[in-house]
Amino acid sequence: METLTPAKRNECLVFAVNGEKFELPNLDPSTTLLEFLRSRTRFKSVKLGCGEGGCGACVVLLSKYDPLNKQIENFSVSSCLTLLCSINGCSITTSEGLGNTRDGFHPIHQRFTGFHASQCGFCTPGMCMSLFSALVDAERTSRPEPSPGFSKLTVSEAEKAIAGNLCRCTGYRPIADACKSFAADVDMEDLGINSFWRKEDLKEVRVSRLPNYHPKNHNCTYSEFFGEESESDMLLNSELYSWYTPASIEELQTLLHPNVSENGKRIKLVVGNTGTGYYKETEKYDKYIDLRYIPQISVVIRDNSGIEFGAALSISKVIFNLKEDNEEKLTSEVKLIFTKLAEHMEKIASGFIRNSASLGGNLVMSQRNNFPSDIATLLLAVDSSVSILTGHVCEKITMEEFLSRPPLDSRSVLLSVHIPYWKQTKSNGTIESNSRFLFETYRAAPRPLGNALPYLNAAFLADLSCNENEVLVNNVRLTFGAYGTKHATRANKVEEYLSGKPVGVSLLNEAVKLAKSSVVPEDGTSHAAYRSSLAGSFLFEFLFSFTGVDHKISADELDNTLREESEIINNSNLLLSSGKQFVESSKECYPVGEPMTKFGAAIQASGEAVYVDDIPSPPNCLHGAFIYSTKPLARVKGISFTSNSLPDGVTDVISSKDIPKGGENVGCRSMFGSAPLFVDDLATCAGDLIALVVAETKKQANVAAKTALVDYDNESLDPPILTVEEAVKRSSFFEVPPFLYPEKVGDFSEGMAEADHKILNAEIKFGSQYYFYMETQTALAVPDEENCMVVYSSIQCPEFAHIVIARCLGVPEHNVRVITRRVGGGFGGKALKAMPAATACALAAHKLRRPVRIYLDRKTDMIMAGGRHPMKITYSVGFKSSGKITALHLDILINAGNTTDISPIIPNSMIGVLKKYDWGSLSFDIKVCKTNLTSKSAMRAPGEVQASYIAEAIMEHVAGMLSIEVDSVRKKNLHTYESLLLFYGSASGDSIEYTLPSIWDKVARSSSFVQRVATTEKFNQSHIWRKRGISRVPIIHEVFVRPAPGKVSILWDGSIVVEVGGIELGQGLWTKVKQITVYALSSIQCDGTEDLVEKVRVVQSDTLALVQGGFTAGSTTSESSCEAVRLCCNVLVERLAPLKKKLQEQMGSINWEDLILQAHYQSVNLAAHSFFVPLPTSQQYLNYGAAVSEVEINILTGETRILRTDIVYDCGQSMNPAVDLGQIEGAFVQGIGFFMLEEYLINSDGLVVADSTWTYKIPTIDTIPKQFNVEVLNSGHHQNRVLSSKASGEPPLLLAASVHCATRAAIKAARKQRKSWGALDETDSTFQLEVPATMPVVKQLCGLDTVEMYLQSLVTCK
Ligand SMILES: Cc1cc2nc3c(=O)[nH]c(=O)nc-3n(C[C@H](O)[C@H](O)[C@H](O)COP(=O)(O)OP(=O)(O)OC[C@H]3O[C@@H](n4cnc5c(N)ncnc54)[C@H](O)[C@@H]3O)c2cc1C
Ligand code: FES
Ligand code: FES
Repeated sequence: METLTPAKRNECLVFAVNGEKFELPNLDPSTTLLEFLRSRTRFKSVKLGCGEGGCGACVVLLSKYDPLNKQIENFSVSSCLTLLCSINGCSITTSEGLGNTRDGFHPIHQRFTGFHASQCGFCTPGMCMSLFSALVDAERTSRPEPSPGFSKLTVSEAEKAIAGNLCRCTGYRPIADACKSFAADVDMEDLGINSFWRKEDLKEVRVSRLPNYHPKNHNCTYSEFFGEESESDMLLNSELYSWYTPASIEELQTLLHPNVSENGKRIKLVVGNTGTGYYKETEKYDKYIDLRYIPQISVVIRDNSGIEFGAALSISKVIFNLKEDNEEKLTSEVKLIFTKLAEHMEKIASGFIRNSASLGGNLVMSQRNNFPSDIATLLLAVDSSVSILTGHVCEKITMEEFLSRPPLDSRSVLLSVHIPYWKQTKSNGTIESNSRFLFETYRAAPRPLGNALPYLNAAFLADLSCNENEVLVNNVRLTFGAYGTKHATRANKVEEYLSGKPVGVSLLNEAVKLAKSSVVPEDGTSHAAYRSSLAGSFLFEFLFSFTGVDHKISADELDNTLREESEIINNSNLLLSSGKQFVESSKECYPVGEPMTKFGAAIQASGEAVYVDDIPSPPNCLHGAFIYSTKPLARVKGISFTSNSLPDGVTDVISSKDIPKGGENVGCRSMFGSAPLFVDDLATCAGDLIALVVAETKKQANVAAKTALVDYDNESLDPPILTVEEAVKRSSFFEVPPFLYPEKVGDFSEGMAEADHKILNAEIKFGSQYYFYMETQTALAVPDEENCMVVYSSIQCPEFAHIVIARCLGVPEHNVRVITRRVGGGFGGKALKAMPAATACALAAHKLRRPVRIYLDRKTDMIMAGGRHPMKITYSVGFKSSGKITALHLDILINAGNTTDISPIIPNSMIGVLKKYDWGSLSFDIKVCKTNLTSKSAMRAPGEVQASYIAEAIMEHVAGMLSIEVDSVRKKNLHTYESLLLFYGSASGDSIEYTLPSIWDKVARSSSFVQRVATTEKFNQSHIWRKRGISRVPIIHEVFVRPAPGKVSILWDGSIVVEVGGIELGQGLWTKVKQITVYALSSIQCDGTEDLVEKVRVVQSDTLALVQGGFTAGSTTSESSCEAVRLCCNVLVERLAPLKKKLQEQMGSINWEDLILQAHYQSVNLAAHSFFVPLPTSQQYLNYGAAVSEVEINILTGETRILRTDIVYDCGQSMNPAVDLGQIEGAFVQGIGFFMLEEYLINSDGLVVADSTWTYKIPTIDTIPKQFNVEVLNSGHHQNRVLSSKASGEPPLLLAASVHCATRAAIKAARKQRKSWGALDETDSTFQLEVPATMPVVKQLCGLDTVEMYLQSLVTCK
């Protein structure tokens, strides 16, 4: 064992953050680094997105001394899971530590800005740190020095650097480009639209324009602070914090000895503390013992028998060592095992988790708490053993025994794991010459890389003898895990069955069946049959090639192009291939039309941008956490806590009883009415707010809210209504005002009479979707003089929160002020749904006369949020043999939840989009059902995304019935301008504005649609286990322009302040507003207006400064706000014009600053206010777009990969093509989430159970289209619009249906093939593919027994 420099002990916790040294005399040892940074320092760039390691918003770089290698090591960690005591002697770098406004931004920040990679910005600092950590890692390699401006990072590493980071806004492509721009092997042609160079610029010019990067200029600040101290470990051993860091086994034994550590005291052994991300402990410990500094638990020992890893080694270090060993002279068997183990482990969690998560922690979680571990499965397969210390007894046992023992007690320590060196031997000890050694691991997870637990994992090891005619199984070890079992297990029966037998089709068929019956999840496990079927798939993959059957059908028939394409897609190490963005910038209204970078992007990247929770707490500030109902319908009789008194730190529990005299129990309001803030007596959904616990710290409030006991009573109450069917039975509906109920088109009966074919009463169902804004609901309320209240809220409609707060408190509206600067993602979820948090804060602050803030934890947010409307649709459609549809009738039941919210508008939104095809005649009956689910709200493209999909599902159904190509049915039913007018009336605009037909053709050309349809077919004929599908989908999306206020003021120095009603949510509203301000003011035509861009600042929304702000929703707020600002600027220009004329005559020329100075002296009114009200003729308009998507499904696992998407979207005359492109890509990827990934699960009480990043999977960089091409079309024929622009925020989300349709096409091919194997069940081609089409859903439709079907067909053939 290597010697270590003796450790230094210190009693006081010392560490550095961004060059500032901190020494903390006292601390609760359960404090995380994130809690400390956010509450006790000025470094707010670490964002709290989930608190469970699943989002990456909190990533920082940790630098510490590595006593083994005697050097500083730097790696990323999630600060939300890292305990502060564990960073003693370390230095932390956060994004603002890399660079900032004062010291200059880091090239990472600059490149994120220039590549348009930050929208709401909440994920951006974490992204920057993940990239920075990858750059630091790359620097350690011995790769050749890169050319100037680049790093040693590879493109592949750059992409993977952010695989565990979530972004809900951008769609990842621009983030990937910003990261790849640092890679030494990047092809500059592959980098997307940016502000650094123009398309036509040569490579050299491009390189020279990139913000310069040199690794040496961007050192981490470790040595500066710890100087000589850095030569050894600094061990915190402090009774003060109850934190102990033993440096030897003996010390550890002493600490754990029952006589020393008093009985009954709770001890926690800790390494990376990432386990708390999964098991969210509220428990308190009396003693923390940090295991990382005991040499035996942290070293790697190699001897003749194998390799031994100390249990405290991080998974990253284990991977590194497995790879490193591979380079040495090991047998091929060991090399194979190590390579596969390392490759598999690289799919565990994410880089920033693996860097601190330990091998031992993982195994103990698996052994003790049944954690679905990958590592246990892997290590079991290779016959590892573990050493355990209990008291003074150290024993070495096999992994199998370890896993099957009763749970390890809290004083037993896992010391190390031993992996034996495998070599192939016969029973007599000699190596067979004709033998084959196999080792393979498997993992089927919702995301290939990005932080997702598997449905099933497996590792197989086999020793085969290959004779002339057969392959004999000598030995085999088959392990499975993570499928809803206590721990990883060996499939003994299958092993026994296979051993000693020749591999043949029949044998494999039996083994597959046996494997499926061995892998049986415990009751209550989701997708149980799917998980079992995966066991068969994995075994099939492992052994099939030895059965002697060539499973590639006519591979020679593949033409070269296909072969190349298949190779690129399947073998490339890269997640993404180059995408193309086509944007036209227009100079007509400069700088409107320019792809300007987002206003504030650099400070978002550095983390200096201030979100509500970043506002420092005022003195005496309290923190709130909600207690919500877990019952769908019950009387709430009372709330109690386990102890008789209020829990630690809790000041009060605020409920409806605390509404002041004159106030009202109201927490939310829309045009359809209001909803209560707290349950009065009866909780009407699981997630209903019962009370707000208010405590001195956020942690105390959260713990108290979680442990509160609610006494329910449902005696004499009717059962709750959870489904739309039940709502219909009990006539439980919300009224839709007649003026909002959409109008039918034509006569359905006549249309049906014309039809050659009919489909009657077919059904479609949708579940919900959660917003997953990265910043959860948050507010801060500060009481002010004279009964006033200032509320900082992250909200899309401050004006409404303002009204609600005033009503709740019973004060005049002028006593309330709601301030919103920026919102960390809204997507409709921070419109009405942000009001309860703001109102509850205000109510508590009002009662307690102290500031109160709320920042919901992710779970509470997910449970309360509501989300998209679930619905059930029954349709009947008549159509001609040609595919032309003549009539459609729909019965739509919308599950609106327990309050009205905006639900009455959903019918109109739905029909507005559904009319995208010419249905001949269209009729419907739509009911908005009142149920006992959380109230559903306006999630991005509310009702519209479902409606667009319904239209496509009907097209698929019709095409299936007629057995014709669905694309031709779509085309046949596209509107002519005449039918468009019939369906949409005046919203259609002039015929020249109807650009969909040309977009439809354009996207076919740009995507080579026709050729690729043929290629796909060919691919499907020549591949058994992978099938492809391609689909083209159009959209028409109607939007409504609403009134908006604006105010422009010009200050003495010529700088300009702009206020708008719209809120900056990341959609680039402020940027467009800035552009239009410059454009409109420039019409004064004096010198210096070309620099006005630098002079404009858009400021936060303040409901007392600018009234009638309205909603930021419906995709049109940017344009209305811009128009309001333009009106203001026009007034200012008009006021300034006479003075300018006069001055110009006097002086020959006049510049902006002088003009403004003179205007101030001459008392020209330099503040203008406007209220833009759209003309009735331009209030509504239609948006058009089309997309082609191609996917590949894996029939064995149900995995879908999106190979390519091409979008053409009409932005009218885009005000900022970069911003609009970002909206299009981001919306599309959010749509992919809805259609493919995001399973919104509720329990039988309607309580959301997909309530964490563990269970709810939004897209990550590895699940977006591998190639993503977007064209922002500047059609320009929209003179009634604001500078001819069109909306881009929501409509493109609908285009993601193309991915779902393509998946359906691929499944169709799989089912056709299955039929050829003799399946009797899949005769129809009109099957329904659920939304979301997750892996289990796809696999189910391809057949859970496909493998057996196939093998059986081979047996039969023989
Ligand atoms: C977001 C995320 C995603 C993940 N994804 C995966 C995945 O896909 N596959 C997978 O297999 N795992 C996954 N994990 C689990 C991860 O591997 C474990 O959380 C980690 O390895 C635990 O190590 P730790 O050092 O952080 O343990 P800690 O959190 O420090 O400890 C965990 C538990 O083990 C005990 N303990 C730790 N070390 C020892 C020891 N040597 N002896 C005795 N007791 C000990 C602790 O007391 C504690 O009870 C994921 C984790 C996170 C946070
Ligand atoms: S907040 Fe730490 S990973 Fe999400
Ligand atoms: S920019 Fe990534 S979450 Fe908003």
